[in-house]
Amino acid sequence: MFSSITLGSSRSPVTVVGVTSDGKTVPAAHAKVQAVADALDTPGFAAENGEVLAAGANHVLLGLGDPALLTAATVRVAAAKLVRVLDRRNDKSISVDLSAGFPKNRTDVEALGRAFAEGLAMANWRVDHFDGAASRKAERGGALVIEAADADFADGIRRGLLLGGAVNYARTIGATPPNICNPAWVAAQAKKLARDTGLKCKVIDHAQAKKMGMGGLATVSHSSVSKGCLIHISHMPRKRSRAAKGKRLVLVGKTLTYDTGGYSLKVNNGMKGMKYDKLGGCAVLGAMKAIAELKLPIEVHALLAVAENMVSGDSMRPDDIITMYNGVTVEITNTDAEGRLVLADALTYAEEDLEATAIIDVATLTGGVVVALGHFCAGWFCNDEGLSKAVEAASAESGEKLWKLPLWKEHKDFMRGQHADLINSNPQRSAHPIQGAAFLSYFVDEKTPWAHIDIAGVGNIDSGNDVCVAGPTGWGVRLLTDLVENQSK
Ligand code: BES
Ligand code: ZN
Ligand code: ZN
Repeated sequence: MFSSITLGSSRSPVTVVGVTSDGKTVPAAHAKVQAVADALDTPGFAAENGEVLAAGANHVLLGLGDPALLTAATVRVAAAKLVRVLDRRNDKSISVDLSAGFPKNRTDVEALGRAFAEGLAMANWRVDHFDGAASRKAERGGALVIEAADADFADGIRRGLLLGGAVNYARTIGATPPNICNPAWVAAQAKKLARDTGLKCKVIDHAQAKKMGMGGLATVSHSSVSKGCLIHISHMPRKRSRAAKGKRLVLVGKTLTYDTGGYSLKVNNGMKGMKYDKLGGCAVLGAMKAIAELKLPIEVHALLAVAENMVSGDSMRPDDIITMYNGVTVEITNTDAEGRLVLADALTYAEEDLEATAIIDVATLTGGVVVALGHFCAGWFCNDEGLSKAVEAASAESGEKLWKLPLWKEHKDFMRGQHADLINSNPQRSAHPIQGAAFLSYFVDEKTPWAHIDIAGVGNIDSGNDVCVAGPTGWGVRLLTDLVENQSK
């Protein structure tokens, strides 16, 4: 693993030459190099996307596949494969020329540069903090410096490295085990991020939340020795774009540092992996890092609803009735449906205290969304056409895929209770992801554009894919950043 990847220049970089699979074409200047010409003829080298082949000492060929099928997504994968090879080769600097695959439209070249850098950064991540005495200390590689002659491609690289850094920041927090990463630790990380990037950070602690009447957050957070909190981070740029005037976006993240299920305990080892129940909050934190670093000219707030769902002498019980921050009463039917309880109070805070003009929440809310959609895309809901289009555009740009689910009056009625206004889970085990969204809808004004994104399937993966190793993926960091940026344009 490289210790860092930066854009810069160096004296004798290895040249990475993109080769398309149709006729194995490379730009004329490289084709003249004998080592390149020889390598292109290597039997078995088909220049499929992500195929890497050394050409002499100073060149590396990178297959880009069929140019008609070349997209940001395929370039991201090719870069991920490349960086693993560069790491093994111990390269220090590369000069990249993928122009053989460039589209006619120059705006797409920047997008390819960005995807290339994202692939490099995201594939160059693993957690080594917990390598102990029994591990061979893997030698951490040195720095990798990249240069690209094409100015648009280089601009894209700059942006992609920044985004990849924010994604990896979110992944590192996500991977931190629950004996270290408890609510207090998350609050400390948020404060550190704010200090480092010029954001503002305020923490509403457990006692305050309780006093303010945040029954959902206080009740869940109460069960643990490490009490929960609501973290409020704000990005208040001095300069705002014209498009940003009057907009106050609020990003909300479910941040359960651990979810045992509570008295509705998770069984059959279903608890394993529940350190990842904080990945909504991690995605929001990562996005705020990128938003601050990019100095986006728009006001953005982040709310992390942080708690640890544990079993203790005064944990909530099924049958308890609590009163939420907006005055709605909820009968707890299942203590494992805790995410919606903490999120609901954060949504009310976004509505009433922050007067949000749009709210996007991200949460590992239900196992049901994994059953329905797998690890391929997030499930989501939206009450507003404009926001819906904006989220879909950000999804397309970032390559973080979503699939929309319905949220109708029938679903909302399904969450009404007999003993209180609402139940937190309907005992009929059906439509769980929609139940979660329907519950949350009671905490957002119908007139406020709101999107709820259930990332239980995509936030972490059990086996590695083309770009990410097994573990947290940082899903949402890039989508949220793109969304916020587009709102400022
Ligand atoms: N954190 C879980 C959701 C989850 C499950 C995320 C598996 C990732 C993988 C959430 O708090 C939960 O337990 N949800 C329940 C809801 C049910 C009790 C209504 C679920 O999905 O089973
Ligand atoms: Zn749960
Ligand atoms: Zn949970």
